[in-house]
Amino acid sequence: MSANIVIGTQWGDEGKGKVIYLLASRADVVVRAQGGNNAGHTVANGGETYKLHLIPSGILYKDTLCLIGAGVVLDPKDILGEIHDLSKRGISFDHLRIDPRAHIIMPWHIALDGLSEQFRGNKDIGTTHRGIGPTYMDKYERSGLRFYDLVHPEIFREKALATGKLRNAIITKVFGGEAIDLDKVIEEYIGYGQELKKYMADVSVLTYEADKAGKTILFEGAQATLLDIDFGTYPYVTSSHPLSAGVCTGTGVGPMMIDGVYGVAKAYTTRVGKGPFPTELNDADGDYIREKGGEFGTITGRPRRTGWFDSVIVRHAVRVNGLSCLCINKLDTLAGLSALKVCVAYKRPDGETIRDFPPTLEGLEGCEPVYEEFPGFTDDISSCRTFEELPQICRDYIARLEELCECPVKIIGVGPSREQIIER
Ligand code: GDP
Ligand code: IMO
Ligand code: MG
Repeated sequence: MSANIVIGTQWGDEGKGKVIYLLASRADVVVRAQGGNNAGHTVANGGETYKLHLIPSGILYKDTLCLIGAGVVLDPKDILGEIHDLSKRGISFDHLRIDPRAHIIMPWHIALDGLSEQFRGNKDIGTTHRGIGPTYMDKYERSGLRFYDLVHPEIFREKALATGKLRNAIITKVFGGEAIDLDKVIEEYIGYGQELKKYMADVSVLTYEADKAGKTILFEGAQATLLDIDFGTYPYVTSSHPLSAGVCTGTGVGPMMIDGVYGVAKAYTTRVGKGPFPTELNDADGDYIREKGGEFGTITGRPRRTGWFDSVIVRHAVRVNGLSCLCINKLDTLAGLSALKVCVAYKRPDGETIRDFPPTLEGLEGCEPVYEEFPGFTDDISSCRTFEELPQICRDYIARLEELCECPVKIIGVGPSREQIIER
């Protein structure tokens, strides 16, 4: 019996999907606690590749209970599409459950996401345009629609009409956008609610009971530490808490249930969307990593920005998440580079060297990464399965990351498949 969390330590897309798929093979329950279909988790399994948005990665195991918690924002149309596509590939949804408290992403949220981004001009965040921010805004303003509402047509009609009218006024009168046909949308969404209602269950209760019964629970983080609304690079962040602590509020369980927290990182850094990225590479090395690592967004197809491993941000993630261990993915991608660099600190414009990630963009401005250099390696490491099989350069690289981040590395990824890992 144990309960573990898997979260991202950088700006997302660290390969959480792969690690979760591996750990879920030993779990009875997999829970998503925050975010929405802005996530894209890739799971590669014996030639088959799945790109999951909202459905917990445990769904690929037929007996695993898969839970979507209260802290998640749910796009009913998108999840039904996902269920439909995966069902055609033989995946069963008998064990999927969605908390009645989860907030619903409506077409006006998606419209407002796009219009706000347009309004920001070149100061846009680079969101996924999935309506995530506007849905969390309504939740915290206390005018949101919840999954419970969606599956009760009379309640939904009344609440959706009231909030929809106000959002339409903002869309047309503030942004000059096109009004949404509320009656049509509300009836359409009532239909989705009827298709989804069989999945409704109290996820807090299910998780608590599973823990009491000695089941193994895995919490599937989405997004990542530097995208956290408080501890990320605000305002270039998402609107939820992708930290380990977000799992408790997003599921409805206490922190004493948690036994361990896995932080996933890449052996380098990527970011999709705008915002600061101290170790970003705009040169041939950055292009090499992007091409070799296939660094293009899972959801939007956008080319990801690439850069060297930044131990300042990962150390920040170790602290704010209370990480038990790190998983370093995509070490294989670095093969072929003539030299590797790791950022060990930042040098501020006033000459001071700092190791703690600054809390504000203003504090980060003008910070230059201080690098330590490692020799490159050319070996194909994709079939290594033990730490000892790795070339000495790779072992030194990992050992130094452990020192710098102050956290043991327990899993090393050497390829996209579940079995392409080294577990220590
Ligand atoms: P997530 O959002 O954190 O689940 O990550 P994504 O699925 O968005 O992006 C990670 C990408 O890297 C996917 O295409 C994975 O198949 C791939 N990947 C994960 N681990 C490794 C690894 O160790 N080596 C290589 N080459 N690819 C990996
Ligand atoms: P996974 O779970 C990478 C980024 C967006 C944008 C910012 C805000 O696959 O790691 P949003 O649509 O959430 O309002 O966008 O957050 N972002 C992600 N980047 N991986 C993700 O999820 C992301 N989810 C959101 O690109 O910069
Ligand atoms: Mg992703």
